[in-house]
Amino acid sequence: MITYPTPTAIASSPIQEQIQVAMQAVESAMHEAVNSEVQVLRDASRHILGAGGKRIRPRILMLTYLALGGTDMTYAAAPAAAVELMHTASVVHDDINDHGVLRRGRPSVNAIWGRTFALLTGDFLFTAVYQLMAPYRDLNKLLARAATALVEGETLQADAVKNNIFTREVYARIIALKTAALFQAAGEIGARLAHATEEQAEALSQYSYNVGLAFQIIDDILDITGDESKLGKTAGIDLQQGRGFGAVKDDKNGAAPDDPIESIKRKILKGNRLQEARDQAAALVDMAIAMLDVLPENEAKNELVQIARLVVDRDY
Ligand code: IPE
Ligand code: IPE
Ligand code: MG
Repeated sequence: MITYPTPTAIASSPIQEQIQVAMQAVESAMHEAVNSEVQVLRDASRHILGAGGKRIRPRILMLTYLALGGTDMTYAAAPAAAVELMHTASVVHDDINDHGVLRRGRPSVNAIWGRTFALLTGDFLFTAVYQLMAPYRDLNKLLARAATALVEGETLQADAVKNNIFTREVYARIIALKTAALFQAAGEIGARLAHATEEQAEALSQYSYNVGLAFQIIDDILDITGDESKLGKTAGIDLQQGRGFGAVKDDKNGAAPDDPIESIKRKILKGNRLQEARDQAAALVDMAIAMLDVLPENEAKNELVQIARLVVDRDY
C-alpha cells in the first residue's frame, strides 16, 4: 500500500512533483485493477502495462484536475487509470486487427499469447474500466460515450478500407471517433472532478478533443516517416493496409503496379501532403491552447500548453 502526500502537501509542492505523485497513483490503480486470479489475463495485462507508453491521456486528466485546484490524487487517479486502461485495451485489440507484432517496444500481446488470449485480454482491460468507474456516477457517461466512439471509429475505418472509401471526410470522422473522443473524455473528466464551471468543462473538453485530433494526425505521419525502433510499434502498416491520412484518395495518389507501398510513400513524401497534415495538426494545437484561457494562470496550465506543443513536435 503506497501512501500519498496529503492534499495540503500536494497543493504546495512544485508541479513536477505533483505530476509524479499523480502518475504514480495512476500506475498503482491500473496494476491493482488488473490483478486477476487468472494467470494469462494477469500476465498479459502486466506485460502491456509494464511496457510503459506515453500515458498522455491520464496525464491530461490529472493536469486538468490540478489546473482547476484538485488535490486528491487517489480520487482522480481511478478515472485516469480507467482512461488509460481503455486506451490499452484498444491497442491490444488493434494489434490483432492490424497484425501488429511490436507494441511499446515489446512483442504485442497477440504475438506472444496469440489472437484468442489477446482478444480476451483486451476484453478484460475493458471490464477493469467498469470496476474503476463504478463510484463516479455521471462521469461514467463521458467515458461510456468515448468507448462507443472508439469502437465506431475502428469499425468505420475497417469499413472504409474494405469498401475503398477513404476520403478526407471519412478520415476526419474516423480520427475524431477512434482517438479524439477518448482524449476529450480525459480532459473533461479531470475538469469535472475538480468541480469546473460549465464553461471551463466545455473548454477543456474542446482542448483535449483538438489535441486528440492532432495526436492521431501526427501518429499517421509517423507511421510513414517514423523509425520503428523509436516508435516501439510496427510502423508502415497503416499505409500497407490502406489506412491513415496516407491512404486518403486524391488524383496524385495512384500506386505503381510493381511496388505499391513504396510508390505511395514516395509520392506522399515528395508532395505536400505531409506538410499539409502537419499544418493541420499545428492549427488544431493552436486552437486547443486558446481554449486554456478559461483556466487561472498556474503551472498545471503551462504543462497543458506544453503537452499540446509536444504532440506536434515528437518523433515517437
Ligand atoms: C497509440 O496511442 C494509438 C493512437 C491513438 C495513435 P499512443 O501513442 O498514446 O500509445 P502509447 O500508449 O504511447 O503506447
Ligand atoms: C490505434 O489506432 C487504436 C485506436 C486509436 C483505437 P492506430 O492503428 O492508428 O494506432 P497504432 O499506430 O496501431 O498505434
Ligand atoms: Mg494499429
